[in-house]
Order: sequence, then structure tokens, then C-alpha cells
Amino acid sequence: MSTERDLAGRLALVTGAARGIGAAVVEVLAERGARVLATDVDAPAAEALAVRYGDRVVARALDVTDATAVEDAVAEAERTLGPLDIVVNVAGILRGASVVELDDADWAAVFAVNTDGVFHVSRAAARRMTSRGRGSIVTVASNAAGVPRSGMAAYAASKAAAVMFTKCLGLEVARHGVRCNTVSPGSTLTDMQRALWERSPGGAEAGRRAVLDGDPDAYRTGIPLGRIAEPVDVAHAVAFLVSDRARHITLHDLYVDGGATLRA
Ligand code: NAI
Repeated sequence: MSTERDLAGRLALVTGAARGIGAAVVEVLAERGARVLATDVDAPAAEALAVRYGDRVVARALDVTDATAVEDAVAEAERTLGPLDIVVNVAGILRGASVVELDDADWAAVFAVNTDGVFHVSRAAARRMTSRGRGSIVTVASNAAGVPRSGMAAYAASKAAAVMFTKCLGLEVARHGVRCNTVSPGSTLTDMQRALWERSPGGAEAGRRAVLDGDPDAYRTGIPLGRIAEPVDVAHAVAFLVSDRARHITLHDLYVDGGATLRA
């Protein structure tokens, strides 16, 4: 089986699809033949992405923190586009601050998107996939879920919860032929990453170098492969996990971080 069109005939829903890693996931899934429902809280940006792909990509506004909106969107997608074969949870936010400075609203906002959102979307999809006996769900988490990072406690904890949630869901639905995996990226060149660099005391370039070379003050190793990931590097890992080539892979957490957490 060639990888080029191996997702032909599949329908995929992607959250956080308007930019960055989500947009790359849309692109790679569409290139490999899937029809894609590209959803994002930023509807105009999702629409601008979708028009580039003609009828292979349909855009919809969707805020993953709203459980009712998620249920309605999934029901409408199945009614108008067909059964969902693939769901990719990409929507995520980062509100960086040390714990002593972190306020309640930022803590809640991070969990609302990164953890509750994954629950809402995966639950709505799993209810339907299990009754059909097939389907694949991938959650884009973060390598920060597996290694402590200063200034990122809420983010890292929300991602660790999303990883464990996705594994537990995978266990429950495996007998129904549904696979659930996570992809955990390291630093990836997107707006989220650039915003982190901007906050670096030495400026954006110093922030970029600290990610690449490591930062002993932050107890942080660099990236052994010596490069920052492009969004498409993460998207290819997602596309593999949702494809039939990964048909015997479930409950897996695939790190795409150039070795930054020394797991490879
Ligand atoms: P980004 O900030 O460039 O894009 C995130 C997208 O999610 C945006 O289009 C935004 O509108 C959307 N979004 C935010 N809140 C939403 C909500 N409530 N409902 C629906 N959509 C919402 O982020 P990036 O870098 O592309 O990250 C994508 C995912 O990858 C996130 O889950 C992030 O935590 C994760 N990640 C990113 C890394 C990086 O270095 N860029 C590293 C590790 C993980």
C-alpha cells in the first residue's frame, strides 16, 4: 500500500486546525486522500485554510471547551458529511507563569482547552466510532507532559492529563476496533512557540537558542537533532498513527521532539 493516498475515503475531524500544527495535520491528511473537517475557535482563519483545498476540506467554527457545541458539531458532521473515521485533537493553549504567579483564570483556561476539550471531542467521537467498530483518535499532547518545565506547570499538567485520558479511553474502546494514541511534540515552529521565545528575558533569538542548545538555569536539555521541528514533522506522525499502517498500535505516546527529552 502506498502512503500517498492511503487515507482516501476517510473523513477526519481536526480541532485547532486554523494554524500551526493543526493546519499541517489538515494538509497532510488531505494530501493523503482524506476529506477533512477543519475546526477552530478562530472561524475566519479556518475558512481561509479550507478554501485552499476546495471541497477536500470543510471549515467549521468550534470551541472545544463547549461540550454542547462539540456534540452538535460532531452530530452535524456525521449527518452532512458522513461517519467520522479519524479525530485529531490539536487545539491547545499555553499560559506561561510560575505557579506562585499563576492566577485561577489562567489555570482554568488551560485545562478547559487542553484537557476538557480533548474529553469533549473524544467522547463525542468515541460514542459513534464504537457503534461502528472502527475509528482512530489521536491527541496532540506535548513532551512537557513527561518532563517538568518551570513556568509551564498548568500546561504540562493539562497535557499529562490529556495523555492519560486518551490512554484510558483507548483501553475502553479497543474491543470495539477503535484506536487511541497521542503524539507528543517538542518545540515546534508555530505562533505558540514564537510567543514563548518573545517572553525570553534575552529576547526572541536568545529564547530560540536556549531551546536548541539547552538552558542549565531552567534544567533544560537542548535538542539532540539540532533543529526545531516544523509543524509538518508532527503532522506526519499523526498521519501514520491514524493510518492502517498503525492498525496494531493503540495506547501509544509517540514523541516527536528531536530527542529533547532523551527518550529516543
Ligand atoms: P497555535 O497557537 O499556533 O495554534 C493553536 C490553534 O488552536 C489556534 O488556531 C487556536 O485558535 C486554536 N484554539 C485555541 N483554543 C481553542 C478552542 N477553545 N477551541 C478550538 N480551537 C482552539 O499552537 P500550535 O503550536 O500549533 O500547537 C498545536 C498543539 O500542539 C497544541 O495542543 C499545543 O499545546 C501542542 N504543542 C505545541 C508545541 C509547539 O512547540 N508549538 C509543542 C508541544 C505541543
